[in-house]
Parts: sequence; C-alpha cells; structure tokens
Amino acid sequence: MTETRVLLANIDEPDLNTIAVYERLGGYRAMRKALLEMSAEDVLHELGESGLRGRGGAGFSMGKKASFIPKGAMDKYLCCNADESEPGTFKDRLLMQKNPHLLVEGCIIGSIAAGANKGFIFIRGEYSVQADILEDAVAEAYEKGYLGERILDSGHTFDLVVHRGQGAYICGEETGLLDALEGKRGNPRLKPPFPANQGLYQGPTLINNVETLCNAPIIIDHGADWYRKFGEGNSTGTKIVSVSGNVQRPGNFEVELGVTVRELIYGLAGGPPEGRELKCFFPGGSSAPVLTKEHLDLPYTFEAMAQAGSMLGSGAIIVVDESEPLVPLALRLAEFYRHESCGKCVPCREGTNWTVKVLERVDEGEGTPMDLEILEQVQGNIIGNCLCVLGDSMAMPVASMLTHFREEFEQHMEEARLARDLEELPAMGAGELGAVPEAGPV
Ligand SMILES: Cc1cc2nc3c(=O)[nH]c(=O)nc-3n(C[C@H](O)[C@H](O)[C@H](O)COP(=O)(O)O)c2cc1C
Repeated sequence: MTETRVLLANIDEPDLNTIAVYERLGGYRAMRKALLEMSAEDVLHELGESGLRGRGGAGFSMGKKASFIPKGAMDKYLCCNADESEPGTFKDRLLMQKNPHLLVEGCIIGSIAAGANKGFIFIRGEYSVQADILEDAVAEAYEKGYLGERILDSGHTFDLVVHRGQGAYICGEETGLLDALEGKRGNPRLKPPFPANQGLYQGPTLINNVETLCNAPIIIDHGADWYRKFGEGNSTGTKIVSVSGNVQRPGNFEVELGVTVRELIYGLAGGPPEGRELKCFFPGGSSAPVLTKEHLDLPYTFEAMAQAGSMLGSGAIIVVDESEPLVPLALRLAEFYRHESCGKCVPCREGTNWTVKVLERVDEGEGTPMDLEILEQVQGNIIGNCLCVLGDSMAMPVASMLTHFREEFEQHMEEARLARDLEELPAMGAGELGAVPEAGPV
C-alpha cells in the first residue's frame, strides 16, 4: 500500500518553507490564476464543485460555507483554525512546518471566495516553531506583494496575521476561537448566528481548518473535475491521516478518501506490535466513538464512518490493542475533557466531572454495577445537550466503549474490587484476623 501524495507531494523538498523553493515548484500559480483569470464567483464555484469537505472535524462543504458569506461591501474575515488540539491529530503541524506557503496561498484563495480583506491564522501556542515559520512565510509573501493592498494590481486586498493561542482545547471550537481572537476568554458562543453571518467583530467570517485551506490552491490550479477524481462518493480528495497509538509505524499518511481502514492501520502504519491484536480504534481523533475489528474493511470516508456510528472527524486514527485496558483509557480521556471544559454549560461541566468520578470508582475497585448504568445515563444526558460539542466529544467515545466492551468494564470493576479487598486484608492486622471467631457447634 502506498500513499497518494497531493498535499504532501513536495513535502521532502529541502527549504520548501522558503518562497523561492515554493514558487520554483509551482507555488502561488493558483493565486495568480484566481486573482487575474477568475472572478470571485468562479473561485467560489470551483471550490464548491470540488466537493471539498472541512478537514477540521465537522466535514462541512467548504464551498457551501463560503457561499453563506453575505455579498457586498463590509468588513469580512477569514480565520484559519490552526489550533490542532484534538488528541491524536498532528497533520496540520506537518503542513505548517514544512509547507507554510501552501497555507498562506490557501488563505489568500479562501479570502477571494469569501470576499474577506483581513485574515488570521489562529495557531496553538504550543506550536511555537510552526508559528515562527508561518510568520516568516507571511513576511516573505508581503515582500513579494502577495499580501496587502491590491495584490498583483488586482482589486483584492488581503492582510494576514499569525495569532498564537494560549493552550486551551476549547479555542479550537470555531466560536471559542473567535472570542479568543477578540481578546476575550475563549468560550463558545450560542449558534445561530453562525460565524458566516456574524463572526469576528460581528462581521461575516469564513473559518476553515489548515488542511482544508491547503486544498484550495490545488483545486484552483488543477480544477474541480481533476480534484473530484480522488476519493469516493461525497468524500472527495485526499486526506492526511495521523495514525498513532498501538501501531508499529505511527505517522502522517496521505491517502485517497475511500481506502480501507485496514490499509491505513496495517498497510501503512504496520498494525499493532508483533503478537498483539487490535481491540478497537478511534477513527477521527479522541472525540470519535470507537470502532472495532469488524469495521476494518470499511472505506475511510465521511459517510462510511458515520454509518458505522462514528465519524471521520479530524482524520486521526488512534489504535488500541488487546493489551490496553479500556477503563483507564476512558478515564484518561474523560480527565482531559473535564480539564478542557470551559464550564459555560452545565451538561459539559457537570457531565465530564461525573464521568471522571464514576470511572475512578470503577477503576479503583469501588464501583457497583449501578455505576455502569449511571455512566451510560450521564453520557446520554450530555450528548446533544451542550453549547458546543466538547461535552459530546467525551460522551460519544466513552458511551461507545461501554456499548462495545461492557463485559470488559464489568470484569475490570470486579477485578479491581477483588484487588482492593486483598490489599485491605493485611491492613486489618493479624490480631483482627485471629479474632474472627471460629464456627462453633450450632
Ligand atoms: C471542542 C472543539 C475543538 C475543536 N478543535 C479544532 C481544532 O483544533 N482545529 C480545527 O480545525 N477544528 C476544530 N474544531 C472544529 C471547529 O469548530 C470548526 O468546525 C472547524 O474549524 C471548521 O473548519 P473546517 O470546516 O475546515 O473543518 C473543534 C471543535 C470543537 C467543538
């Protein structure tokens, strides 16, 4: 099994991060075409026709989202979501570090489609190396006149700023990101209004993920018909899939959407370590409900993952093998989401905390069968009831683990209880043990 490298085609080229090398390899050709040979409507149309769906999690059509931006003169914005905080996801980091100009060019093309004159790349604070590289790329693009006033003497003006986040998962949620950009605490906003209508500073705003925007120059350069040849059904194009967890060759692999999950996990990532069997996998980052062995031959598409009860999400597969107990894994996951919950809505704030508490009891041998019922009910009360989907992002995988592996949860609880009882025995002291009256004659 080999990769289909489109976004990563030149990724190993030395100094690709410099504008000289990027342009030598055809970089900024699509921007020229979009600015000088196409109208903004054509650009929007081409992006829509390509079928490109968001690579940040929700899988919404990029062209459709851009088409929701109102027409006419007003302050409009483009925001690139480079927060990449979803556990298991590390593909945007690769793109920004090695090929920052592809993203800058993608932002320019996105801005043409949206009619935006100001843009921000919101990058997580931990990615300081990548932020430095991006800042250099933006400076180079300004020097060349690819950013700023009337780019290449066209009628389009676009300014781009790299903005560093401060390390909060919730700032990857698009409206939390907007609040953070405005200098507030990054809390999600109630939707509607959606950002396309009322986003940054109340202006219409197009928000897209790094990988989504990196597809834009490729689509404009080669055309939507060419692009649609990659992929399957409504999942067009290629996808950079981050594969991690219990695999022999973790890493980023670019494949056509539609290859089987087995090809990704076993063919490219080498499968679980020698002698171990796969237990389950998260197909779309840690927020995606887990799937099992029986799902390995499904095509890796938005549709197939959804039909199987999960989601393609950010396109990050985390593999869990048989040696990995699920209760501590679910607990680690819940602790992460509890820590990252902004606390603005009750189901998420309380639900993530309850989930941690119950899982702790189960893990420490203090659980009762009722705890598993409570665990299930709590997840049910979170899903669909939160201000944003952070709460669901914990509840969906935890609920799926319970559904697929309830016996393991029950066994873990029983074994932990026995282990705890055994630990407590010596603590009771020999005297106490000796004091137990022997059964006498009745
Ligand atoms: C809690 C939470 C965290 C998110 N984190 C990210 C992130 O780090 N990067 C990202 O692109 N999208 C993230 N999203 C999804 C964004 O809200 C939004 O759907 C996405 O940026 C839209 O871009 P796209 O259409 O190109 O995928 C997150 C969503 C939620 C609810």
